Amino acid sequence: MNKIDILLGLQWGDEGKGKVVDALTPNYDIVCRFQGGPNAGHTIEFEGKKFVLHNIPSGVLTPGCVNLIGNGVIIEPHILKGEIEGLREAGFDLRQTLKIANRAHLILPTHRAIDAANEKALGKMKVGTTLKGIGPTYTDKTARRGLRIGDINTANFREKYEQLKKAHLQQIAGLGFDMQGFQLDGLDFAEYEKLWFEGIEYLKQYQFVDGEYFINEALDAGKKVLAEGAQGSMLDVDFGSYPFVTSSNVIAAGVCSGLGIAPSRVGKVYGIFKAYCTRVGTGPFPTELFDKTGDTLRENGHEFGATTGRPRRCGWLDLPALKYAVMLSGVTDLMMMKSDVMDDFETIKVATAYRYQGKETQHLPFAACTETMEPVYKELEGWRQKIEDRRQKAEDSIPEKLEEYIRFIEHYVGVPINFVSYGPDRTQNILR
Ligand code: GDP
Ligand code: IMO
Ligand code: MG
Repeated sequence: MNKIDILLGLQWGDEGKGKVVDALTPNYDIVCRFQGGPNAGHTIEFEGKKFVLHNIPSGVLTPGCVNLIGNGVIIEPHILKGEIEGLREAGFDLRQTLKIANRAHLILPTHRAIDAANEKALGKMKVGTTLKGIGPTYTDKTARRGLRIGDINTANFREKYEQLKKAHLQQIAGLGFDMQGFQLDGLDFAEYEKLWFEGIEYLKQYQFVDGEYFINEALDAGKKVLAEGAQGSMLDVDFGSYPFVTSSNVIAAGVCSGLGIAPSRVGKVYGIFKAYCTRVGTGPFPTELFDKTGDTLRENGHEFGATTGRPRRCGWLDLPALKYAVMLSGVTDLMMMKSDVMDDFETIKVATAYRYQGKETQHLPFAACTETMEPVYKELEGWRQKIEDRRQKAEDSIPEKLEEYIRFIEHYVGVPINFVSYGPDRTQNILR
């Protein structure tokens, strides 16, 4: 039986999923997103060009690959239209290759307003969301009042929209948030709403499918399918650092509900992580660095959000958190990204445990959000050599001390690291 492979971020997002999905796409016929929405920003670079995808799967830049936006994804039509048009201008026409699941929910302009109102109401305790309406849209999905892509071709779509909008405006007023003067992406609400409806009309030229049949039948017909995660395991709504999380299941289990795939149909689970850690938004980050080393990671790694431009918080690799993420998703293959960022480091630290309530533990405590955990570090020697330079001299190998770093991680986590990325370009990878 043909199985679906999965690629997941194992940290707090931005691990480099876009780059790796694009690099793996030549081995697949179909790439699907199964959760999240335009909160994602997946970067792909090749031949000196750079693309950032938000709602669209990262297989679109490989000719012939079919891309599905699955039922578990939430869609903002104006943002999606902008993305499709940007790709069209760059020479990628998606009319034949992009499919959208009927059951995918819509992000309304008022969902984005509620997101902003909620964040304002939380004050200092805000999540630091991407303000794309993610939480409110998934809330309406589970509250059974959301609108779906398949609804846009029904006669009373506008009526349903107005009804939900009315409820949203009451909710917003209840939060004491003033819609007067509220802007979305620099536009008046009414102007933005007009563009949103233009997005709805625009999307009608794309193929809406019953994604669950589409994918299962494709697998039955022998097609190779890759599911592309968004965000990272530590932002999972169930297992992340709640409430500083996103509103979907980003772990492997999310693929089953987000595409309509049975667990027995899951094949390889690729887990990807940076050689260090980053996080955007609020919430605990035990290995965060507030010193010069943190700044160096940010500068060397260009750690600024692909969706919001915010500087990313940076710190050392957190092995208990990585092992936890590997456990939750049954990761079979690990991929380490951005090793080049630490090429100049004399020494490198990795957290191997936490000191919590006077004891040492390798488990993430339930109360991790409210109480402090102090990381216990192991210090390793830096490799101080570039893979790039070695390759130019036809030494197709990994520097010795980097190899030691990799083995240390493999030993701790118990899963092999088969793929090491040392630059943003789709070709800057080494297979072990
Ligand atoms: P995603 O959300 O997981 O797809 O990751 P993002 O695109 O938000 O962030 C990853 C950033 O790192 C992007 O700017 C990539 O171009 C870049 N990147 C990916 N892999 C590497 C790598 O191995 N080295 C360096 N220096 N940059 C990388
Ligand atoms: P990719 O797919 C990094 C973070 C936000 C915030 C929290 C909730 O590019 O890795 P949301 O808007 O989802 O309600 O915000 O989650 N967040 C991400 N951080 N990468 C992402 O996506 C993220 N998507 C959401 O910063 O802390
Ligand atoms: Mg990103």
